[in-house]
Amino acid sequence: MSRVLLTGATGYIGSHVAVELVNAGYDVIGVDNFSNSTPKVLDGIEKIIGKRIDFMEVDCTDYNAFEKVFEQYPDIEAAIHFAAYKAVGESVAEPLKYFKNNLRSFENLVELMVTKGKGANIVFSSSATVYGQPAMDELPIKEDLPFQPASSPYARTKQIAEGILEDCVRAYTNLNGTILRYFNPIGAHPSAHIGELPNGVPNNLVPFITQTAAGIRECLSVFGNDYNTPDGSCIRDYIYVVDLAKAHVKAVDKMLQEGIRWNVFNLGTGKGLSVLELVNAFIKATGVNLNYRIADRRPGDVEQYWADPAKANAELGWSADTPIEEVLLSAWKWQQKL
Ligand code: UFG
Repeated sequence: MSRVLLTGATGYIGSHVAVELVNAGYDVIGVDNFSNSTPKVLDGIEKIIGKRIDFMEVDCTDYNAFEKVFEQYPDIEAAIHFAAYKAVGESVAEPLKYFKNNLRSFENLVELMVTKGKGANIVFSSSATVYGQPAMDELPIKEDLPFQPASSPYARTKQIAEGILEDCVRAYTNLNGTILRYFNPIGAHPSAHIGELPNGVPNNLVPFITQTAAGIRECLSVFGNDYNTPDGSCIRDYIYVVDLAKAHVKAVDKMLQEGIRWNVFNLGTGKGLSVLELVNAFIKATGVNLNYRIADRRPGDVEQYWADPAKANAELGWSADTPIEEVLLSAWKWQQKL
């Protein structure tokens, strides 16, 4: 079976993808520098799949160190690039940290895949943030919606990296590229052996909800109830991380089987949920009471968007259809384990 390199393999999405790739029969080599994860994630993956994945502790911005992975594993045919910083607010305060880490690591990966890989199939982990705030008549978002100016340096790294891959696919004939644009990934593996590990106070909604329900945070702030949406709170497309992980397997399958040079997919459910709807779904699913209050809008938040996943549904034979209650229960189970 083909070998797939995962950068950021012990991160939130990387770890779930490692599990699904192994379940699908792939050989995996994971790399990470544990800048936002811990070696314990490897134990969690092992508990689920019953064996240790091949792993090397590497900082992908260090070309020479990264090159050693290809010397040790000359059979790499595909790579999925997760390794990146992802805190939007921090990226505004420290843009260079984001450009250096997120772009250098990716340039190194592309160069190594093109020159040292047995195959050069790259899946890039992108984000719906590349689209900015679409107009109402542009919803749901299709892949061909033009980008808006980036709303943060983090968003800009995603736009630039997509461009790097596109230009390189055009120039290097052995290189194939697939872009996966995630909407809002949430939840944890149903085993509760792996999940999201927020660093300090969570920025994202679901970890904040579960920490509040667990009594770690006093109260959830719902950022704004005066948006132009049915209940006034922001709307997002929340996608279960396990469904998301399965889309990566399909994307790799397709690249290896069909050799398609370039492809872009939106990965979402196709359904928008408001913050208040999500909060109520959590309470209903878990039976746990949640202390929340309406607070001011969070600067930089986009009012509403959700995906049109039709292309991924049709071409990958995939859909994200785990019920939201089940997804929120998985997040709650993981929180309790933490
Ligand atoms: N929200 C709250 N209270 C909170 C946290 C969030 O009301 O304590 C609201 C936000 O205002 C927003 C929604 O919940 O309306 C979702 O917020 P998240 O922070 O969970 O996610 P975002 O939609 O802001 O997405 C951001 C970036 C993405 C990135 C993602 C994950 O825009 O590019 O975080 O890091 F991928």
